[in-house]
Amino acid sequence: MSILLRGGTLVDGTGAAATPGDVLVVGDRVAQVGRVDEVPADCRVLDCAGLVVSPGFIDPHTHDDAAVLRPGALDGKLAQGVTTVVVGNCGIGLPPVRLIPGQAPPPPLNLLGTAAAFAYPDYPSYLQALREAALQVNVAVLGGHSALRVACCADWHKPASRHEIDAMAARLDEGLACGLAGFSTGLAYPTAIAAPTAEVTALARVSARRHKPFAIHLRDEYDGVWDALTEAFEIARDSQAFLLLSHQKTAGPRQRGRARELLDRIDDAARDLPLALDAYPYDAGSTVLDAESVRQSREVLVTWSVPHPELAGRTLSEAATALNLPLDLAIPALQPAGAAYFHMDPADVRQILTHPRCMVGSDGLPEDTCPHPRLFGAFARFLGTWVRDLQLVGLPEAVRKVTSLPAEVFALSDRGVLRAGARADVAVWSRTEFADRATWTHPRQLAVGMRWVLVNGCVAWSPRGSGEAGGQVVGG
Ligand code: ZN
Ligand code: CU
Repeated sequence: MSILLRGGTLVDGTGAAATPGDVLVVGDRVAQVGRVDEVPADCRVLDCAGLVVSPGFIDPHTHDDAAVLRPGALDGKLAQGVTTVVVGNCGIGLPPVRLIPGQAPPPPLNLLGTAAAFAYPDYPSYLQALREAALQVNVAVLGGHSALRVACCADWHKPASRHEIDAMAARLDEGLACGLAGFSTGLAYPTAIAAPTAEVTALARVSARRHKPFAIHLRDEYDGVWDALTEAFEIARDSQAFLLLSHQKTAGPRQRGRARELLDRIDDAARDLPLALDAYPYDAGSTVLDAESVRQSREVLVTWSVPHPELAGRTLSEAATALNLPLDLAIPALQPAGAAYFHMDPADVRQILTHPRCMVGSDGLPEDTCPHPRLFGAFARFLGTWVRDLQLVGLPEAVRKVTSLPAEVFALSDRGVLRAGARADVAVWSRTEFADRATWTHPRQLAVGMRWVLVNGCVAWSPRGSGEAGGQVVGG
């Protein structure tokens, strides 16, 4: 089976200038890039005149851990040209958590769903389930610190004992041996905040030994971000792991306007530390509902609430009024719950996301009732509004940030670049039409302008919607 993408504008992912040309795909590989004169018999020809042909996009920061196993649940990503997602970010993951009957997953693990989703007692069983599933996109899996702590520590409100660290390291190493793509932590979260730096370093070292990266959601993303960054650098230095700073931001009223300073600090560290960042093109974040984040925000939206599902999509003050409670009492009354926090300055967000080491990571939360629009919109908003309309970076550089840069970070050596011999993950899209449609009130609207998406040579997206499921487990 072969497919000829004829007469498009090729943007190859390396950062090189666009060139007109064809791409021939044979089986799951790119066979030829440039001018294709000899078309194989029974080759399907797709007319790409006026369209950009680029490598499929890699979303390095997702919480699609459960969603990838549900048929059709990744349509929102395919409509944005995403062909690979990295799950297991922020220390959150399904395996190797085992809940006792009646036990709810503790926050933030509950961002991945209810207890029923936690069906994998170890990494091999989850990886096996992925390999047996009809995956719409490729999936790389990080082992999550909070998931390991909940699985291995008698009391995750305390630092792990030597014995517990050994148990977590053994579980993680077992996972890395059978296909995990790295290790992640989220030190701001209740399930991990008690972990001292040395505990994280011990686990990051396990990942480094297998040449895999270490992703960190910093211990503090508000006023303590400076010390939290220092801690991340220390862990990376001591463990020798490639450092990935997750959803990097300056947040809260006192950090406003400090992105340049933050990036200088990161550039400084990057002189002797291999590192990268991810960020999403929005000035609001989203995670579980917590009082500190509410304090740091100018506006808060409720994205889900177990006791009050009817309040999803309302502002926190509207929810408080509906509950007839003051704000500080509405927060516990809504729990367990999720929220979106308007706590960033748009200029800071732009400065961070356009940094050459920064990738676009959606950080979307597919299980939320009313998710942050970044889930369905991050890549279209970046390439549409930011790159085409505002011209914050040129097209070749923008494409590099969503293709070869994440491929390098996760050592996906045969993806992220359009070249003969690479895996055929390809996005074909209209530069003029590509746009996000997801809004705060209607967040599950597909992006527009993506014409065809190939995943390992399978037509995963076309003008008719989703098609073949050609995804594989990658990054192991
Ligand atoms: Zn996070
Ligand atoms: Cu995240």
